[in-house]
Amino acid sequence: MHRRNIGSSVLLLLCLLSALRAGAVFGAGTDAPSAPPPPMSGATASPGVAGPMPSAMDERVRACTSCHGVQGQGLNNDYFPRIAGKPADYLFNQLIAFRDGGRTYPPMGYLLAFLPDDYLHKISQYFADLQPPYPNADSSPVAASVLQYGEHLVKQGDPARALPACAACHGARLTGAQPGIPGLLGLHASYIAGQMGTWRSGTRHAVEPDCMHSIAVKLTDKDITAVSSWLARQPRPADPRPAPSSAERLPLACGSQPQ
Ligand code: HEC
Ligand code: HEC
Repeated sequence: MHRRNIGSSVLLLLCLLSALRAGAVFGAGTDAPSAPPPPMSGATASPGVAGPMPSAMDERVRACTSCHGVQGQGLNNDYFPRIAGKPADYLFNQLIAFRDGGRTYPPMGYLLAFLPDDYLHKISQYFADLQPPYPNADSSPVAASVLQYGEHLVKQGDPARALPACAACHGARLTGAQPGIPGLLGLHASYIAGQMGTWRSGTRHAVEPDCMHSIAVKLTDKDITAVSSWLARQPRPADPRPAPSSAERLPLACGSQPQ
């Protein structure tokens, strides 16, 4: 499914690329210290509030929302992940990774190739501030024993293998933690399993020390199927926001969550 998405995305990209680049140039201009105040259309519209006039930023991120949903909520029954509401630093780290090679997805790599860090910070903050509804939870039948095992690994880990609980870092509500840990809810099982696979094989890298690599290499295929299936079937929590950053020590050091 992943490959088909890449293929069918090429045409779409050609149309979108120029929109985003135009936005980038526009954005860079308004950042210059001597520049006049940014001419935001519908100046009072804040991101996430559907107003009659889309803001300049709404326009610029059209190149992204065709794949990630109008508010970055993720698409139903598809691989494209939710990006809305994840911590801004986490999103920024991912955009840098797609741009500079820590993650590989060519359609995004091309889009991001020449965008400066400053603009990527703005895009990240824009999506971090949105909290749209989750896409539909996965609903294909999975054996209850698989789901139970998945829930156990997520909440307790497996001390015999020195495998920490996912919740120890991703938060008791699994909505992530500021500034660098993403929530694990609202994603499809195929996406979660895909990411664990790329970490295990070494094609996805996070800032060193890359704790997710250390975790992924300990997981069997059975573990990955179980945790992904369980996570993708959870409802949206009452409070979907990431937890504030905490002084509590993580079970492993993570470069993207400095302590
Ligand atoms: C052609 C479709 C497409 C377009 C256009 C696109 N993305 Fe993506 N994006 C994806 C896919 C697919 C992934 C997952 C890639 C992978 O396998 O790692 C992804 C991953 C991401 C992630 C990481 C998500 C996470 O939770 O780790 C972020 C952040 C992101 N995209 C932001 C953007 C932004 C910002 C734009 C616009 C500049 C954009 N994307 C444009 C398809 C797209
Ligand atoms: C020691 C802390 C820690 C533990 C334990 C942990 N994670 Fe993570 N996880 C992280 C950090 C930090 C990131 C962000 C990495 C980055 O910047 O790319 C992350 C990112 C992820 C992502 C990427 C999300 C996305 O949108 O692409 C997935 C999926 C994930 N973790 C799944 C899990 C699962 C499943 C477990 C339990 C088996 C787990 N994690 C345990 C720290 C942890």
